Amino acid sequence: MHPMLNIAVRAARSAGKVIMQATEQLDKVQIEQKGSNDFVTSVDQEAEQTIIAVIAKAYPHHGFICEESGKSGNADSEYQWIIDPLDGTTNFIKGIPHFSVSIALQVNGKTEQAVVLDPVRDELFTATKGVGSQLNSYRTRASKAKDLKGTIIATGFPHKNKHYKESYLNIFSDMFEETADMRRSGSAALDLAYVAAGRVDGFWEIGLKPWDTAAGELLVKESGGIITDFTGGHGHVNSGNIVAGNPKVVKAILGKIRPHLTPALSR
Ligand code: IPD
Ligand code: CA
Ligand code: CA
Repeated sequence: MHPMLNIAVRAARSAGKVIMQATEQLDKVQIEQKGSNDFVTSVDQEAEQTIIAVIAKAYPHHGFICEESGKSGNADSEYQWIIDPLDGTTNFIKGIPHFSVSIALQVNGKTEQAVVLDPVRDELFTATKGVGSQLNSYRTRASKAKDLKGTIIATGFPHKNKHYKESYLNIFSDMFEETADMRRSGSAALDLAYVAAGRVDGFWEIGLKPWDTAAGELLVKESGGIITDFTGGHGHVNSGNIVAGNPKVVKAILGKIRPHLTPALSR
């Protein structure tokens, strides 16, 4: 394993311990609202500090871009760690056992190492650019579906941006006609990891953030999948409008999105 991936795994496991210990006393967790239908807990913050401490000890000159504490460390370094300490906070708060720790390392803006850890099931998804992607050390491969027939497509509702409700539901409705079923798990990082593992055939969501997707994107790519924005381009890096799956599934999803594109969804 690449030494930097090794450190990322160590950091993710430490955060996973913090989160799992907290699930035993959920009533003690402090919850704050940071935006519309957007919550942060003392556990998100503690997990994030744990991750930063582990990585900074090994790599004191690297930089960090984290969901809760923003940018820290060396902003000029070519090495930047993109961290979502707890992806699926709403599930966590409600006691629904489906959430993850997501850590990606970007070198000169390109993701080279990725870890998504599901601490509940002890499932560790890892990838190194050009080397492949694994689930608990076994190679993962994206689904081989040729179109939407018989597929399970994961998605996330635009719960923080409800003004997208109408476009979202129109796209959902057209897609649902053709798929076998849809899933809304509540952790985008795990949705992408599940695309990588072929557990779901594809994934789409509006307005995700870099820390939701950075690690998952490499997992998908290293499993034979692709990631695009809603027009088939690369705008998702900024817009967070994301479609993932094997190239045929992505093409089929894009076909369902196209009739409902608005300027905001075309970025
Ligand atoms: C959220 C989850 C969720 C997605 C949201 C994300 P958070 O991350 O990934 O599945 O629908 O848009 O913000 O807030 O739990 O880290
Ligand atoms: Ca997240
Ligand atoms: Ca989070």
